[in-house]
Amino acid sequence: MNTKANTNFNLKMAEYLNEQLAIENSIAERLVTRIHEVSFPDFRQHLEQNLRETMGRQEMIYQLIVSLGGRPTDTKSTLPTLKMPDSHRIREFKDTVESLTDHRKKEAKLAEEEIHKIKEDIMVEKAGVIAYKILLRIAEQANILNATPVLKQSLEEEESMSNWITDNISVMIDYLWPKIESALIE
Ligand SMILES: [Fe+2]
Repeated sequence: MNTKANTNFNLKMAEYLNEQLAIENSIAERLVTRIHEVSFPDFRQHLEQNLRETMGRQEMIYQLIVSLGGRPTDTKSTLPTLKMPDSHRIREFKDTVESLTDHRKKEAKLAEEEIHKIKEDIMVEKAGVIAYKILLRIAEQANILNATPVLKQSLEEEESMSNWITDNISVMIDYLWPKIESALIE
């Protein structure tokens, strides 16, 4: 393969890595918010570790892009969110208004919101697993070997966090459901 082709491969890889860097930039920001929101100490600890790993990946990907001849981005991309159908939004609004004076309903609302955000946490982590699997395969196909250790490590980190949330979802629901339940019992 000629040098021109090599340069093109590297620049293409840098472009893909920049897409992922923009995602990690958004995730770091989202994690800071989530760390303050979650009510489970265990989950908070994992999110804090996740934030440290995310910042590590930002740095590693940054360096990788530079070494491939690209220019690392500081833009942020839009993360996957879970949109509720309109009927849900109407009910949600109604509930919020009605529950202003009712402590139990407010607690239930917060618990429902927390479940919604946990679903989004899992979506974001699973999306990370898929993204790094694809990037790793492309790096292998394009024979960009200096990218593979970083991508393998990133894939492992995403898998581990995504598995942790999935494994602990029952514990979190067991804690949150009674809050919803108590608002349903008058
Ligand atoms: Fe992640």
